[in-house]
Amino acid sequence: MLVDNGRPEPNPIFFGRHKELEWLFDRFRRRGAPIVISGPPGVGKTKLLKQFLASVRTRRPPLAWTLRDRPDQLMVELTGRIEELYRERNVPEIVAIDEAETLSERDMNAVAGRLLNLKAIRTVVFATRRRPKISRAEILELGPLSTIDAQDMLKRGRPLGVDLKQTRGPGTYPHQGAASRSLFLIALLIAAGAFILLVSQQ
Ligand SMILES: Nc1ncnc2c1ncn2[C@@H]1O[C@H](COP(=O)(O)OP(=O)(O)OP(=O)(O)O)[C@@H](O)[C@H]1O
Ligand SMILES: [Mg+2]
Repeated sequence: MLVDNGRPEPNPIFFGRHKELEWLFDRFRRRGAPIVISGPPGVGKTKLLKQFLASVRTRRPPLAWTLRDRPDQLMVELTGRIEELYRERNVPEIVAIDEAETLSERDMNAVAGRLLNLKAIRTVVFATRRRPKISRAEILELGPLSTIDAQDMLKRGRPLGVDLKQTRGPGTYPHQGAASRSLFLIALLIAAGAFILLVSQQ
C-alpha cells in the first residue's frame, strides 16, 4: 500500500540535526542524484525527512509517499503513480519515499531512474533502514542524536508531553516514580493519624 502525504507542517518539537538538514538542502540545490537517508529503526529518518520537506523551498508542494505492507503490490502501485506524474502538469520538484526498505535495490533503481527522468523533478529522496546500492546516490547515514540534543529533547519533551509518552509506559520517568512514592507516604500518614484518633477515642 502506498500512503500519500502532502507537505508536512513544520514541527516545533524537532531537535538537532542541523548538519543533516543543511546536507539535504545542499543536495537539493545541486539536483540530479537520488538521495538516501538510511539508518536503524527509530533513529529519526521519518522525522528528519518531514522536517526537510516542511522547510525546503519549492514552487510546488513536495510529494511524499510512505510504503506500507504488501511488497508484491507495491511496485505495480508505484509504477502506476509514476506514470500518472508523466501525464500531470503540476509535477512536484521533490518526490520522497519513506519506509523504502520494502523495495529491492533493483526496484529502487528503477523508481529513481523513472522519476528523475522527468525534467521537473529535481530530487528523489528515499528513507530506508537498509543502506542500498543505487547508482549515483548520495547517502546520508543517520546516527543517533548528539548527547546535547538528546538531553535537550528529554528535558523539553517531558513537560510538552511529546511522543515519548507514546513509546514508554506510565511510571517510567524518575519524577513520576518520586511523585507516586510521595502520594503513598501521605496516604500512609493519613491512615496512621485516623488509626491513632480512633484508638484514643475508645
Ligand atoms: N530530531 C528529533 N526531534 C524530536 N523527536 C525525534 C527526532 N528524531 C526522532 N524523534 C522521535 O523519535 C521517534 C522515532 O523517530 P522516527 O519515526 O523518525 O524513526 P525512523 O528512523 O523513521 O524509524 P523507522 O525505521 O521505524 O521508520 C519518533 O517518535 C520521533 O518523533
Ligand atoms: Mg520511519
